[in-house]
Amino acid sequence: MGNLVSSKQESPPPLPRVISSSSWELRARPNGLVSVDDFALQEQIEIDTELDEGEALVQVEMLSVDAFLRTMLDEKAYHGAISLGDTLPAVGYGRVIASASPKAKLGACTVAKLSAEQAAMLMPMISLPGVPPTAFLGILGITSGITAWVGVHAVARPPRRGETALVSGATGATGSVAAQLAKVAGEQLDELCPDGIDFYFDTVGGPLLDEVLKRLNRGGRVVICGASSQYNGNLNVGTVRGPSEYLKLAERGASMVGYNVLFYMHKLPFAILHLLWLRWRRKVERGIGGFGPAMVKMFTGGHIGKLLVEVAEGGEAAVSAVGATPTQAKAVKLA
Ligand SMILES: NC(=O)c1ccc[n+]([C@@H]2O[C@H](COP(=O)([O-])OP(=O)(O)OC[C@H]3O[C@@H](n4cnc5c(N)ncnc54)[C@H](OP(=O)(O)O)[C@@H]3O)[C@@H](O)[C@H]2O)c1
Repeated sequence: MGNLVSSKQESPPPLPRVISSSSWELRARPNGLVSVDDFALQEQIEIDTELDEGEALVQVEMLSVDAFLRTMLDEKAYHGAISLGDTLPAVGYGRVIASASPKAKLGACTVAKLSAEQAAMLMPMISLPGVPPTAFLGILGITSGITAWVGVHAVARPPRRGETALVSGATGATGSVAAQLAKVAGEQLDELCPDGIDFYFDTVGGPLLDEVLKRLNRGGRVVICGASSQYNGNLNVGTVRGPSEYLKLAERGASMVGYNVLFYMHKLPFAILHLLWLRWRRKVERGIGGFGPAMVKMFTGGHIGKLLVEVAEGGEAAVSAVGATPTQAKAVKLA
């Protein structure tokens, strides 16, 4: 599956005993729509580079902004809650700048869910010719492109020629890839789907799901990827707007199935081969200070495709150079 990016790197210069970093912390649990005031950017955090056995220090270069992170800000989060004062978790990639673990090679480029004091599984980043590192958070990202591929191809019978497929949230990271895989997207249901709907890939949930159920064809399939419309305040207070039209499933001999992308990792090679041929868009915010506002943007609209935050200066070029000034670093205890 390609070479490790780190294999020909020169050894980085030794780090000073203490380096400074920045991180976004959860200041208050969001009340409804997430607000930037729910977060606090902590700057000049001192990080001891003398590591305990099994720890590694990663200089973060790019962070992925994901809708599912919103669910972790609530007290009873279904993806696992974070505590007040905790660093916001995010999937991202970066370079190992210090290591006391045989699993993390100095200089290696890794991709992981990064968060202070959290056990992390650092995965070596593969290098594919002509594929920029950002692709591993976007079109080839587990929480974006791979999620879309699994939802369209591996969870229910995929849409066939002649069928009508519909994708909600088709401007977003996951939905825009699913829409290419399923070929159709949109919201004006009666105009777009005059013959009913055979396959629905849903990232948004809420009232739209009911509208789709009403128009479902015999043998239709509904794949529940997520429900972004329900994440801002509904999840934990018992007011998730579920489908009241679910009996259409019985009437039409249709099915509705949810999935967790992490249960489909055995499909990764098939997904990657397919996804590499697709187009994808991204919106990149600059600097660690952009992460909190980007979390808000995720739910207020304004991005098309994958939302990313470039932390290291120099962007993708910085990925192949070992950072001389390690900021925004994270110590991670390897799982
Ligand atoms: N099942 C899995 O394993 C899995 C894995 C990863 C992600 N997911 C799910 O995939 C979905 C998309 O996640 P993503 O990270 O790729 O985010 P994203 O699609 O890039 O961004 C979220 C999208 O949701 C839409 N949205 C937000 N609030 C909405 C509302 N109230 N009503 C209608 N649309 C709304 C926004 O569209 P506009 O900008 O057009 O408003 C935005 O494009 C999420 O539901 C997430 O939980 C599932």
